[in-house]
Amino acid sequence: MALGFRGDVADYYHRYRRGYPPEAFDVLAEVFGLTRDDVAVDLGCGTGQVTVPLAGRVRAVVGVDPEPDMLAHGRRAAGEQGLVNVSWVVGSDADVPALRAALGDGSVGVVTIGQALHWMRHDDLFDAVFPLVRSGGGVAVLTNGTPLWLQDADWSRALRAFLEEWLGTPAGGACGTDEESQARYRRSLTAAGFRVEVHGVDYTDTPDVESVVGGVLSALPADRLPADRQAFTDRIRHALEPHAPFTEHVHVTVLTGVKPTAG
Ligand SMILES: C[S@@+](CC[C@H](N)C(=O)[O-])C[C@H]1O[C@@H](n2cnc3c(N)ncnc32)[C@H](O)[C@@H]1O
Repeated sequence: MALGFRGDVADYYHRYRRGYPPEAFDVLAEVFGLTRDDVAVDLGCGTGQVTVPLAGRVRAVVGVDPEPDMLAHGRRAAGEQGLVNVSWVVGSDADVPALRAALGDGSVGVVTIGQALHWMRHDDLFDAVFPLVRSGGGVAVLTNGTPLWLQDADWSRALRAFLEEWLGTPAGGACGTDEESQARYRRSLTAAGFRVEVHGVDYTDTPDVESVVGGVLSALPADRLPADRQAFTDRIRHALEPHAPFTEHVHVTVLTGVKPTAG
């Protein structure tokens, strides 16, 4: 699985990707009735944007990701916060059957997937997760705003134009944030037996140019990172600066699938 979330990309991801607002975790706690007795699994956990805050609300979290460099950052961040209830596991969505064997059916309060479902086989995943979660628990699919280069703002259009010229290809996809993907995820959750709800958290942010450049570098596969980073970042700055401030209307979605109580 060569996705490229490694080396410098993992460093940029950890440093520049924003986390989720506390309200998103309030949604998880409320919808799934999470308590300090619950175990959570965070699939595609990356550097711990969901894993670490969630660990403060449940008994234990298992963070799963195929990229050791991403996990290393998460482990360090959790350690710095004194958290001792997170396990960082190299694995993928295909390992859910192994998690079932290790943890037991009905043992998990929530399986979270933050900004990562577009890398996974979601139909198979939701079927595999269903027996793993307890009644009233379930799956949460989170997205963390529209990609920087796809926003409805002049600075974002300038960024997109620059990236398309530099890379020689259309700028990347919507990473599961678009309505078509979301509708597919809702249908797939329903087909697997979950009761589906859509929640959202909206806020406005104004990242500085360094954060926008860092965000772009965190989204490029490791083998596409430009050798001359300085020239690349200078060119992005040059393209962006006339359009400051970089106002972002961030729409976080929390798609929840609750496992109904049997009987
Ligand atoms: C965009 S990052 C998301 C990180 C974090 N969850 C967040 O919300 O910011 C996507 C992560 O999914 C991981 N990933 C890719 N394919 C995966 C798969 N098949 N199963 C589990 N994780 C996967 C990548 O290694 C990467 O760390």
